[in-house]
Amino acid sequence: MRLSRYFLPVLKETPAEAQIVSHRYMLRAGMIKQASAGIYSWLPLGFKVLRKLENIVHEEQVRAGHIPMLMPTLQSADLWRESGRYDGYGEEMLRMQDRHGRDMLFSPTAEEMFTDVFRSHVKSYKDLPLTLYQIQWKFRDEIRPRFGVMRGREFLMKDGYNFDLTKEDALHAYNRHLVSYLRTYERMGLQAIPMRADSGPIGGDYTHEFLVLAETGESEVFYDAEITDLKFGNREIDFDSVEQCQAVLEEFTSRYARTDETHDEAVFNALPEERRRVARGIEVGQIFYFGTQYSEALGATVQTPDGSSVPVHMGSHGIGVSRLLGAIIEASHDDKGIIWPEGVTPFHCGIVNLKQGDDEADAACEALYKSLTALGLEPLYDDRNERAGGKFATMDLIGLPWRITVGPRGLKNGVVELTCRRTGESEELPPEQAVEKVAAIYAGL
Ligand SMILES: Nc1ncnc2c1ncn2[C@@H]1O[C@H](COP(=O)(O)OP(=O)(O)OP(=O)(O)O)[C@@H](O)[C@H]1O
Ligand SMILES: [Mg+2]
Repeated sequence: MRLSRYFLPVLKETPAEAQIVSHRYMLRAGMIKQASAGIYSWLPLGFKVLRKLENIVHEEQVRAGHIPMLMPTLQSADLWRESGRYDGYGEEMLRMQDRHGRDMLFSPTAEEMFTDVFRSHVKSYKDLPLTLYQIQWKFRDEIRPRFGVMRGREFLMKDGYNFDLTKEDALHAYNRHLVSYLRTYERMGLQAIPMRADSGPIGGDYTHEFLVLAETGESEVFYDAEITDLKFGNREIDFDSVEQCQAVLEEFTSRYARTDETHDEAVFNALPEERRRVARGIEVGQIFYFGTQYSEALGATVQTPDGSSVPVHMGSHGIGVSRLLGAIIEASHDDKGIIWPEGVTPFHCGIVNLKQGDDEADAACEALYKSLTALGLEPLYDDRNERAGGKFATMDLIGLPWRITVGPRGLKNGVVELTCRRTGESEELPPEQAVEKVAAIYAGL
């Protein structure tokens, strides 16, 4: 992409309404525009990152054996009456009527819809296990939408639902989700810690929230410092292996890590003092096993091998895809702007031409652009007729992890400058080597 032809409405001033850094930078970098309270238009740069996050989520869900599909955002109230949630859900549910006076709603979550699809088509234990998921917009009429995409009213969520014959099978599905979420967040450059969460009226220990540590997080969290040393990394995992998934769950959830809802002072204080941490976190996902609550209410049953009929064991599992943009920026920025982790950056590399219109500089930039593109990378070439300071400021603000700077002086010596956004370190090297280096950085991603 050439910046002269892109749509990147960068703001010079810091918008007054934005209270936290991710919201400020998303507005300033021209990623989003507020349409109304808690509802955003996704401008090209924001949309590009959102799509990258979606792709990572899809890849990791499919790797775990889960099946993508898509439900409507507008749903009939009838199903929700059947499950008993229509009256109880409260004012977060946006309700409306169609022209025939039928009650409709904008889906805040989709347990009912998925269970309905399941009960219509699955009749036998032979079709289990089954996990279906979607990445779809949700609407919750939050009383206080704030912090940009972090607490929106309309937001993008991955929501997945497992259907299993037994509790043991459903707990394996739970563990599979935990593993796939660990992989997902790490690929996004994030550490998200699974913390024991409140399962509400259903009870049981089977729900974890994934929290990214950040001062601006809305949840208070308590954890054992040792937990931040855990990395999932590149290890191979067989998602069908009950033992392997269970071992990962144990490894990542055996240390103390809880949100304020489940925090237990006595247990926490039993830890050595130097390991006790109290901090704030952003909830970027949650997994939940809830048994037969919905399958019983909606009659989602299957035939067992002995011919009897039983309600399936279910769980639901969510990732806050649009909230993740904010979480990543909260976790990765400096006073000049965003610093995208390589796995999610909207463009792989910026190219800054210090002297637009200079034949040699223009030609060198074009050549870099072509070689990077030929290697399957997406550069963003700032080919505008602007002064260097302004070009650098834009690149820093939008946070591309690597930048190649091209100017007549360097070219005389046969070199360009490659700069790392995170460290600020630069090195001079021949253009071909700069390209090779950038390609090598992205090779494993
Ligand atoms: N208003 C929102 N704006 C953006 N993302 C959201 C919002 N509400 C929930 N999410 C994301 O969707 C994920 C799954 O939804 P879930 O039903 O668990 O949310 P929740 O527990 O009600 O969230 P919260 O406690 O933050 O209101 C959450 O972990 C979060 O990342
Ligand atoms: Mg939650």
